Amino acid sequence: MFIDKMKKTNKNGFNDLLERIENGGSVDRSEWAFLLSSLDAEERNAVSARARAVADVRFGCGVFVRGLIEISSYCKNNCFYCGLRCANREALRYRLSADEILACCRVGAQLGFETFVLQGGEDPAQNDEFIENIVSSIHGEFPEKAITLSVGERDKAAYEAFHRAGATRYLLRHETADEGHYALMHPSVMSSENRKKCLFFFKETGWQTGSGMMIGSPGQTIDNLIDDILFLQRLQPQMIGIGPFIPAAGTPFGNYPAGDPEQTLLLLSLLRLRFPKALIPATTALATLLPDGVERGILAGANVVMPNLSPARVLGKYSIYNNKKVDGSESAGQLRKLEQRLHAIGYHIDYSRGDYLDV
Ligand code: 5AD
Ligand code: SF4
Repeated sequence: MFIDKMKKTNKNGFNDLLERIENGGSVDRSEWAFLLSSLDAEERNAVSARARAVADVRFGCGVFVRGLIEISSYCKNNCFYCGLRCANREALRYRLSADEILACCRVGAQLGFETFVLQGGEDPAQNDEFIENIVSSIHGEFPEKAITLSVGERDKAAYEAFHRAGATRYLLRHETADEGHYALMHPSVMSSENRKKCLFFFKETGWQTGSGMMIGSPGQTIDNLIDDILFLQRLQPQMIGIGPFIPAAGTPFGNYPAGDPEQTLLLLSLLRLRFPKALIPATTALATLLPDGVERGILAGANVVMPNLSPARVLGKYSIYNNKKVDGSESAGQLRKLEQRLHAIGYHIDYSRGDYLDV
């Protein structure tokens, strides 16, 4: 009802609504629902163009790069959607040694990366001490570079030790803000509450904090997505990562349909409008479903890409979902290709650290 009325009576209403999102005004659930479920292709393009314009004002034509190092494919958790879940016998397992991780950083430094992202499953062998030590070593060798961690839920004391060792950014997706939906996607030993506690702890203790969710995950409703937006509004993360759900072989959701990449792009644009300063990547999951996912992500308002710096021996083994795109960006050639692809749409790589700026 509301939606029909909105569509028929008010083309300006649509633009006003986008403007309100951009200006931080209040937007009610029915308005978010309208945007998430009722736009035609032309309207979606309008949202995307507007989101890109917002990103252009703040970031120009630069796209930040982060060197992603996938440090372990072991995980003690059993999230129902993830190919790395501990119960998945089909998963290929590896873990990088401290020396291998450092070697990746050296390659990355040569290529011009100013940020390293250490991402891994919750691998008991890469315990708190291991993470603290590797952060310390990287920070010692590259004191000017930003170190981002994405190694899951740990104790507060561990997070503090990581911070002291030199890491300043943490990525931990909330996955879904709704507790019921969270319970549908995770075993009962995991809780949405603890995830959120960790995230607020990062915010309170001065980390640049990243969160986000999958789009089109099993059981996800429009209401869930609205709750995700409202949760992000409360958290005010500096970084927001979203990507489509993609089924992973050997998992309980292995036969579920993938999320809609167009819906992912729409969400990305809406988040850009609502969080104009945020660092938002064009994710690998998006690039896995769309051959021009990087370009589409940037043009929808993303301003970060995360080329993979993992060593050749493990590339392709970090299979959180089927057919995950790996391009081996540890080579200068791949980076040049990325540069060309960005140039083709009027953008370029910004090699600076790309810290979140609250201005
Ligand atoms: N499809 C898409 N994204 C996934 N992730 C985990 N499994 C999948 C999947 N099957 C995402 C989660 C997690 C991040 C590391 O990868 O959001 O936080
Ligand atoms: Fe482990 Fe993360 Fe995969 Fe869950 S999503 S099983 S915590 S790697």
